[in-house]
Amino acid sequence: MCGIVGYIGREQAAPILLEGLSRLEYRGYDSAGVAVFDAQAGALAVRKAKGRLQVLSDQLHGGADLDSTVGVGHTRWATHGAPSDINSHPQVSRSGKIAVVHNGIIENYAELKGFLQSKGVPFVSETDTEVVAQLIEYFYDGDLLAAVGRVLRRIQGAYALGILCADCPDQIVAVRKDSPLILGYGEGCNFITSDVTAILRHTRSVGYMEDGELAVLTREGIRCCNHLMQPIEKEIVTVDWEMDAAEKGGYEHFMFKEIMEQPEALRRCLSPRIREGEIVFEDFSLDQDYIKNMRRIYIVACGSSYHVGMVGKYHLERLTRIPVEVALGSEFRYMDPIVDDHTLVIVISQSGETLDTMAALREARRLGGHILSIVNVVGSSIARESDQVLYTWAGPEIAVATTKAYTTQLALLSLLALWLAKRLGTVPEEDFRSMLAAFQELPDKMEEVLSRREDIQYFASRYFNHDSIFFMGRNIDYALGLEGSLKLKEISYIHSEAYASGELKHGTISLIEDGTLVVALSTYSGLFAKAMSNVVEVKARGGSVLALTVEPRKAEMAQTADGVMTIPDIHNLLLPCLGVVPLQLFAYYVALMRGCDIDKPRNLAKSVTVE
Ligand code: M6R
Repeated sequence: MCGIVGYIGREQAAPILLEGLSRLEYRGYDSAGVAVFDAQAGALAVRKAKGRLQVLSDQLHGGADLDSTVGVGHTRWATHGAPSDINSHPQVSRSGKIAVVHNGIIENYAELKGFLQSKGVPFVSETDTEVVAQLIEYFYDGDLLAAVGRVLRRIQGAYALGILCADCPDQIVAVRKDSPLILGYGEGCNFITSDVTAILRHTRSVGYMEDGELAVLTREGIRCCNHLMQPIEKEIVTVDWEMDAAEKGGYEHFMFKEIMEQPEALRRCLSPRIREGEIVFEDFSLDQDYIKNMRRIYIVACGSSYHVGMVGKYHLERLTRIPVEVALGSEFRYMDPIVDDHTLVIVISQSGETLDTMAALREARRLGGHILSIVNVVGSSIARESDQVLYTWAGPEIAVATTKAYTTQLALLSLLALWLAKRLGTVPEEDFRSMLAAFQELPDKMEEVLSRREDIQYFASRYFNHDSIFFMGRNIDYALGLEGSLKLKEISYIHSEAYASGELKHGTISLIEDGTLVVALSTYSGLFAKAMSNVVEVKARGGSVLALTVEPRKAEMAQTADGVMTIPDIHNLLLPCLGVVPLQLFAYYVALMRGCDIDKPRNLAKSVTVE
């Protein structure tokens, strides 16, 4: 997804912009560009290139070719117009006086483009962003802020904008609506960025722009104002993420590093919340009356976060006896959902910026739901728009394929289910105690799974050249299969589907032929016998079965399956948290053996901020 970095200071801007953009590469992009104010020429210099950032960097000799101390940079993930040099950002106005970098989508760009064309303004790109640059110039009469203000009153959609004007060489103008933009406060220099990791090397003091806000950055400071152009004071907060937490730390891929970090991430997420035999949510509380009168729970999310919700539904309904609906963020607002003020809406998102999830959140709020979000990125849009937030504290997740965010979301949602059950009185004290003990065992048991990763590597070497792999399971194992299948397909490009095992005979079984690989998930002991029957059905049709079960069931499963992956036994509530780890490793090793670009799978972005 697109990334923005802007710098104004006393050092050369271009190398800082390129380095900052390199920190955003993980978000997924197809082209990159920078614009700086060239003092000698008295004009803006814009350089853009399709492809990896390295292409641009090589063209600019690491930035040395551009002599300037102010500029903006961008990595683009195409929405309007194919990836190309011309469509890359910064987009410039016809005279070259205004340059704009933009994340988001200008929804009424066609209408505005038509208007400008009718006034004789020529367009060179297919982007919606060019409209912003051209419109600013159209309104510009020597007062940049007035022109930007007039543009903001006309554009609709989502935008984080970084704007340079050749007539104002000592400032950057920044604007935000529905797309994240962060201000960085340095010594004699200031920054804008769409993601704090891009500027952490330079400053840890940041301010999060709110919707409708505008900021003017100079070397000396940052002035902010609201949508009425009235001055506002921005709260400056200190980011405490360590720089090396955003680096690979010696691992070949971020994804592998993040898989290995999971026990630690779980400790960070869970330990402060389990104290003296109780669940303590210091960061959140719900009124007891509200809990008692809750009639329905909605879980809304996309991708892997949605899969967390699928597991969560089983846990929440079992523990609280409250009906739970799980909805895709992209579907929610179009399905006329039944939400009222007795509905708790749990919004799950790693990035906190997924546009579909955000839109669902807003719809749920409009209908009167109480919004509780489970988010990883602190200060992200979803976190800020929720009534309450539970942070997963998994640390920055860089690989496109989520791993530690998934397990921490799942652990936290499971803990929330248990907390609600306790408040509702729907869980016997003894069960509560044993479940809480399981949470405390989880990180160590996960370490055990990770220490046996060579077993999974072996299975990957046996099956990495399959064209199609199916996952099947029942109940929580079905929900787990959805995630295992997504993980595999997104990074290895192997076709994969997940099925509820019971559905096999209703159609899917026709796909099973000699050698078809089925990953049979059977961690849930209560349904082990049923899982075995499905394994037999697959074997009877010539399929190969790679099973996942708990250690005590290994021998039994090995009598029928071709291979068995295991996890230590743990309370049902936490089986999917442990069970997902062999599936993550399987996907990782398979992708590695197929030579795939693991951290940046084709066509994918880390944070999907368009519909
Ligand atoms: O940041 P979010 O959790 O809202 O992202 C949702 C999905 O885009 C994300 O989980 C996606 O499916 C991942 N690539 C899965 O690994």
